[in-house]
Amino acid sequence: MAQHNITISRAGFTSAFGVLAATLGSAVGLGNIWKFPYLTGANGGAGFLLVYVLATLLVGLPVMIAEITLGRQAKANPITALQALAPKRQPWWLIGAAGMVAAFLILSFYSEVVAWVFAYVVKALRGTILSSDRQVTEAAFSALISDPLQSLLWQWGVLVFIGGILLLGVTKGIEALTKKLMPLLFLLLLLLCAVSLSLDKAAQGLAFLFNPDFSKITASVVLTAMGLAFFKLSIGMGTMMTYGSYFRDDQNIPKTTLQVMSADLCVSMLAGIAIFPAVFTFGFAPAAGPALVFITIPAVFSQIPMGQALMVAFFVLAAVAATGAMLSLMEVPVVIFHERLGLSRPKATLLTIFLLAILGSGCALSNSTLADFKLFGLNLFDLFDFVSSNIILPADGIFIALFIGWVWGIDNFRSAVSNRGQLHNRSLSQGVFFLLRYVSPLLILLVMLKGLKLF
Ligand code: TRP
Repeated sequence: MAQHNITISRAGFTSAFGVLAATLGSAVGLGNIWKFPYLTGANGGAGFLLVYVLATLLVGLPVMIAEITLGRQAKANPITALQALAPKRQPWWLIGAAGMVAAFLILSFYSEVVAWVFAYVVKALRGTILSSDRQVTEAAFSALISDPLQSLLWQWGVLVFIGGILLLGVTKGIEALTKKLMPLLFLLLLLLCAVSLSLDKAAQGLAFLFNPDFSKITASVVLTAMGLAFFKLSIGMGTMMTYGSYFRDDQNIPKTTLQVMSADLCVSMLAGIAIFPAVFTFGFAPAAGPALVFITIPAVFSQIPMGQALMVAFFVLAAVAATGAMLSLMEVPVVIFHERLGLSRPKATLLTIFLLAILGSGCALSNSTLADFKLFGLNLFDLFDFVSSNIILPADGIFIALFIGWVWGIDNFRSAVSNRGQLHNRSLSQGVFFLLRYVSPLLILLVMLKGLKLF
């Protein structure tokens, strides 16, 4: 087995199923339950969904395979990995460095959304939000986000919680727990879909989600959909490269990628089907933005027996899914601080948490104290989200694709993807290579230039 010559020993995933579960644990998170529905609602529904699926297939899939393959090949953090694989003095490691910046931006707002989920567990327990009256659920959400102290304390609570998991070294235990609980989240989403589909205006919700209005697909909608595809698959930031570095040498990378992508898409669709019928039935605005899930879900639960208990379960499971995704996001800066700066893992974790408590508070206060502080017309929460998802992740994607397509080359790629010839996937790896060399970089670049109105 190839052993990379970094002095720090690396633990790896031990079984093929473990690899799948961990990768899925990173992909499935608030991106499915919170971001996907809110962006679909804000960007016109079915047309957005269609572009999102296309972006996932044409760009997301090849880039994800690329990232995992590079990570497994180098068995190191993204910066060291690219230094090791690139010819001397070519600065491809900057991909890893940019990814680390994206990690901090994403974690800053992601930790705040996780904070809302945690706060909603408590609200659900108290029973105050179980209502189909939009006034009630909207008021509850805005009371939370416009209270600076609550927003901040919940966020720091989340950071301490996640930091604790990492410091206690119980990440494996948490991942095992996540693995067991995920099917429950899936079942609960199925139940929510059934309830939602029985509502009065279910047909209208489904039409919004599945019947595209092509006039709503503008360049910036396309960019947002592509950014979501990156965000959903945890690519363009080094997460998948880092996870790839823990992959076993006999793992079938394209197969795992395809499974993760399909399951991830499935969970997003279920969230969409659970939410949009309720949006139309109870008169919410599809374009309510980040609030959408938090105001709609209580209305759906208010329609069923034991709704309160089930809603508690829902937010607990959402918190579990979010924790898994957040651990994978934190893994990138922690491993980089650990392997590059020589800090011990606990010190690297503390440094990451400390930096996030500062940077993240800007996002926590975006709807209260700092509501009027705007750059490019966006508050810090939206700005961090925009810059990471719509600029850094896709840009990193371009360079990962270019690196494989034009520097690393077909022979290295084919050999790595086929596990040194053990898998017979020659035409598959050639197809992916073609996409990486010609299609993905151009497509991403075009979408970015148009979407950012630079062209
Ligand atoms: N994919 C996760 C979600 O949907 C979030 C996430 C985890 C992520 N790791 C990432 C996003 C790396 C971008 C890059 O919730």
